[in-house]
Amino acid sequence: MHIDTATFESVRTPIYHYDIQLLRKTLAALDAARHGEANIHYHYAVKANARPELLRIISGAGLGADCVSGGEVSAAIAAGFPREEISFAGVGKADWEIDLALRERIGCFNVESLPELEVINERAAALGMTAPVCLRINPDVDAHTHEKITTGRSENKFGIPVEDTVEAVRIAAGMANVRYRGLHFHIGSNVLNMDEFIPLCGRINELQRLLEAEGLPTAEIINVGGGLGVSYEEPDAYPVPDFDGYVDVYRQHLELRPGQQLYFEPGRSVVAQCGTLISRVLYVKPVRRRNFLILDAGFTELIRPAFYNAYHKIENLSSKEAEETYDVVGPICESSDVFQTDVRLPGGHRGDFIALRTAGAYGETMASGYNLRPLPDAILS
Ligand SMILES: Cc1ncc(COP(=O)(O)O)c(C=O)c1O
Repeated sequence: MHIDTATFESVRTPIYHYDIQLLRKTLAALDAARHGEANIHYHYAVKANARPELLRIISGAGLGADCVSGGEVSAAIAAGFPREEISFAGVGKADWEIDLALRERIGCFNVESLPELEVINERAAALGMTAPVCLRINPDVDAHTHEKITTGRSENKFGIPVEDTVEAVRIAAGMANVRYRGLHFHIGSNVLNMDEFIPLCGRINELQRLLEAEGLPTAEIINVGGGLGVSYEEPDAYPVPDFDGYVDVYRQHLELRPGQQLYFEPGRSVVAQCGTLISRVLYVKPVRRRNFLILDAGFTELIRPAFYNAYHKIENLSSKEAEETYDVVGPICESSDVFQTDVRLPGGHRGDFIALRTAGAYGETMASGYNLRPLPDAILS
């Protein structure tokens, strides 16, 4: 991490810092993992971080965009992502969002239920258009990740049940105002063991054979979603994820048909390590056997620890004193506003700069105005 604390002396904290050099390096590694294969496409998952400056860098690197709301579709277009490389997923697309995406002529709706497919067909007919769709199938594959970020098990709300795939493809392929383009999947997030993606490949292979046996059209697109994890424990040792290993698992285990396009939707792996939440210590508060380091950042700026018990490495950028044990907490009026307990950190003082590392993904985008706090700003360097 290359951060000079002088950069933050004159700004109000908490504030996000984004290391643009690292983002560019990460995007270059992602591109290299394609090995020049033109049928591999990346659609960046905008939900991970929608800061316009970052979106412009990511679109400039040649990626498409995976969106989950009308707002994200508009942000992706404003940031220069080509319309045909924008996809729109989500279990609950509102009519106005469907209309917006149709009028903007995005590349693909990732449809998550048969009722939604009906509505998209109707909206497209009303506008005199044809909606390009992939069907998001819930593969009933366990990613063995955190319960709150697993999405591909049958009890999750996402996608069309795997056993309904044949019926759904038949219906989609026969609709007057829908153009069936392929299949979409996503098993969960922050997956670090590449072998977890192998059962998904197996499921896709099985489905392709089944659809062929039924005489249904071959998918033009196989979209395997995102999910590659990052090292929250050792951000300096692993600043760039293993994109090569990730793409290779699919190369080895997925049986693509001639001409089939393989889409990935990386979110966290693109932006997590380039972002740091910078905060100041407001107070050091010893209470009985606990020693609270009270920051000016709370879950309003970074909710992952309170939301998913997520770990973010914490560093004191100002102190070189002997280490002590702290509970690092925020100022929000909720007991869950705790970043981490029993952390060993150099002796802290009011005004010290504290870094919460690996905060570029699902950090700023999840910020809220609870307690009427202002949304965080950012510095890019
Ligand atoms: C459909 C879909 N694609 C892509 C992603 C991005 O996942 P990640 O940030 O783990 O790469 C998500 C995350 O929730 C998702 O739901």
